[in-house]
Amino acid sequence: MDAKALKIEAARAALGYVEEGMRLGIGTGSTAEEFVRLLAVRVQKGLNIVGVSTSERTEALCRELGVPMSTLDQTPELDLTIDGADEIDPELSLTKGGGGALLREKIVAYASKQMITIADKTKLVKDLGAFPLPIEVNKFGLKSTIDAIHSQGEKLGLSGPLALRLRDGEPYVTDGGHFIVDASFGRIPDTRALSSALHAVPGVVEHGLFIGLADLAIVADSNGIETLRPVSAS
Ligand code: A5P
Repeated sequence: MDAKALKIEAARAALGYVEEGMRLGIGTGSTAEEFVRLLAVRVQKGLNIVGVSTSERTEALCRELGVPMSTLDQTPELDLTIDGADEIDPELSLTKGGGGALLREKIVAYASKQMITIADKTKLVKDLGAFPLPIEVNKFGLKSTIDAIHSQGEKLGLSGPLALRLRDGEPYVTDGGHFIVDASFGRIPDTRALSSALHAVPGVVEHGLFIGLADLAIVADSNGIETLRPVSAS
């Protein structure tokens, strides 16, 4: 099975958790897109749900496929969010933001009673950090913010290149109008400590560590689907 087929299988399994009348947070990225396509078919067949998207990109796809959409302001409490991930550890802490939507993804996940992450098995890791950590930063004072992220990392023994994300040679701008710095810290032994340290930097809008948000991971490989619940850290 190729990667796309695995993403479709994970998305299909997640659809089994969607119930009539639900208010659904809808993620961003290639796996979440497969979920939207399958969800749209169910909606055409009569499923009644309302979605809140985590990006302009997802919003456009949902509207194109006829998925009824709301906003988080109109629907501030959600039943379930289904979203992809760049990395998933055994506690179901996630790295997210490879697709640049981490801020809205986190706001939507936090507003949901439940979050399910969907992925192919390559996303499972023992420790987060091999995937560069996306950090959304304010445009103002960029250099100073990057220096502050660097020193916060160093205090925790984390170092590595901090790269301003580019698209077509220009800084990538998020839906919220911010920049993204991708931090290649390598293995992050204490995700909670790094989360607090990054939140202490005023220019950091949000980071891509999703800790304690995912209730379930639905992971596909060629042997089938695995449904994982958080294993608490010892
Ligand atoms: C978007 O900002 C991300 O958080 C995505 O959810 C994540 O990058 C996973 O994307 P794929 O499903 O495309 O791997």
